[in-house]
Amino acid sequence: MNKLYQSKWHGINFKDFSACSNKKIADKSFYDKFYKQFFKKYRSFDDLDVDWVEYKETIAKEIIKEIQLKKSKSILSIGCGIGIVEKYIVENTKDVNITAIEPSEGVSKWIGNTSKIQIKDGYFPDVLDDNLNFDMSFSNSIDYTFNNKEYEIFLRSVVDYGIKEFILISVSKYKKEQTLKILIKNLIKSILSPIGLYNKHQFWGYCRTSNEQVKILKKSGFNVVSVVYESDNTLIIKALV
Ligand SMILES: C[S@@+](CC[C@H](N)C(=O)[O-])C[C@H]1O[C@@H](n2cnc3c(N)ncnc32)[C@H](O)[C@@H]1O
Repeated sequence: MNKLYQSKWHGINFKDFSACSNKKIADKSFYDKFYKQFFKKYRSFDDLDVDWVEYKETIAKEIIKEIQLKKSKSILSIGCGIGIVEKYIVENTKDVNITAIEPSEGVSKWIGNTSKIQIKDGYFPDVLDDNLNFDMSFSNSIDYTFNNKEYEIFLRSVVDYGIKEFILISVSKYKKEQTLKILIKNLIKSILSPIGLYNKHQFWGYCRTSNEQVKILKKSGFNVVSVVYESDNTLIIKALV
């Protein structure tokens, strides 16, 4: 596991709305402030960067493949953000319903009028009733927000809730041989950023190798764990109880 730092997202510079910290991780209040700026800048999915939308659609198509393998109908998405992947899934499948959870209130408003998606603002599992049944669950790029201890607790809570099939999408993959390069880059950022010689970076989260992901999923109670998609920075892992 290595630390990740970031200075902007969706073309929004973090320093324009927050005092960036390279020690305190981006928390809910950071995301709340970010999304406020986001909705000032963008009015609909059509305004977003075309390459980013295409990338999200690639991920949505991979999730659809998994949904169709077992003809899953009832899906839980944890940490849906603006809901672009969830929207693509329900628009490109039949009879699939998604319950989508997101901690930052109101950020999934662009998909709010889609009858096949039920949005819940809050944290998993607290925001859900205890007795709901889902055929499958996925989490798309929220893994980076957890340190190893928090990540294990989160994954265990997914198993304890009764989810039998979990698809993890990680967009912060790195390779073991990149470790030294990442450490040097992070060191340079931490020296130059406070003295204004480098765009101020926010401690964004953690990146993990494919092996680290598999290991932590198994440690958290998943029995069968397999990588189903891999690109330079993205990893999709299927984990079964
Ligand atoms: C990089 S975004 C990904 C959003 C969306 N899944 C996507 O792929 O576009 C990370 C999201 O994770 C959410 N998040 C942060 N901590 C979380 C947690 N503990 N549980 C669920 N979601 C979380 C943030 O509010 C943010 O919307």
